[in-house]
Amino acid sequence: MDQELSRCKQAVSACLDTVLDEFGSNSVADGMRYATQGGKRLRAYLVMESAALHGIADATSVWAAASIEAMHAYSLVHDDLPAMDDDDLRRGQPTVHRKWDEATAILVGDALQTLSFDLLTRPEFDVSDQARIALLRSLAQASGVQGMVLGQAQDIAAETAERPLTLTEITALQRNKTGALIEWSAQAGAVMAGRDTTHLGNFARALGLAFQIQDDILDVEGDVSKIGKAVGKDADAGKATFVSLLGLAGAKSRAASLVEEAKDALEPYGETAGPLRDLAAFVISRDT
Ligand code: IPE
Ligand code: IPE
Ligand code: MG
Ligand code: MG
Ligand code: MG
Repeated sequence: MDQELSRCKQAVSACLDTVLDEFGSNSVADGMRYATQGGKRLRAYLVMESAALHGIADATSVWAAASIEAMHAYSLVHDDLPAMDDDDLRRGQPTVHRKWDEATAILVGDALQTLSFDLLTRPEFDVSDQARIALLRSLAQASGVQGMVLGQAQDIAAETAERPLTLTEITALQRNKTGALIEWSAQAGAVMAGRDTTHLGNFARALGLAFQIQDDILDVEGDVSKIGKAVGKDADAGKATFVSLLGLAGAKSRAASLVEEAKDALEPYGETAGPLRDLAAFVISRDT
């Protein structure tokens, strides 16, 4: 799995580096380069493997992979701001607002968000007009107030709510906060090819939930030097997480059964979906 992820990492990083080079050197462009480095590139991998599954070449899909990584990087830069999670460390490095300042971090996030849409309009992203518009529109929906932004708002509101969230509420919150971008990524290949997204959607919903449960588990038992961000923050903030609601063992077994569910959803694709099955297993075995 490490090898496959690193092949995808190289392709996406090269694409982002080339584009970010166009912007020259100023604090925002420098911050954008900084914030898009590192990361596991899980969403990029989902895009490129779902594209490969539908016969789309890497040279095309890498643009959508870079697009979702730019959107994800923006979400992390803003998530770490003092007004949100107030974190000092991300991917093993000082967060953007610590390295520069808050105003720069806000602008870096803003510019990464618009860059994400820009990348999908590039001629090198060689898909039909219909697919391009569908991807642009679904990305806007997944990242905005019907998706990630709503999830972030629900997450912040939960910190000061009078009672902890129930499992149903936290599952709905997760689907917005982290699920929406993961669902977009996994379905992107089918959209590029103008094919049905149902099976990849089912795969992504189970995978996205398993991913967030593992994020919550790592907040409890992760190692800062490996994970590259602070741990123990959820409990300190009194947040209801999958671990606080299910216990550590309960959260692990729920994540494991979701991974099986995710793999089962790929049944119609047969053997060719091997890389996506491997990713599902990786999501809960990861310690980074
Ligand atoms: C972390 O996402 C933030 C969440 C959405 C929970 P990742 O664990 O995919 O972060 P990187 O991109 O590898 O740093
Ligand atoms: C962040 O969730 C999710 C998004 C940025 C959309 P978390 O706050 O749990 O992510 P980490 O733990 O800081 O990476
Ligand atoms: Mg957060
Ligand atoms: Mg955070
Ligand atoms: Mg977290």
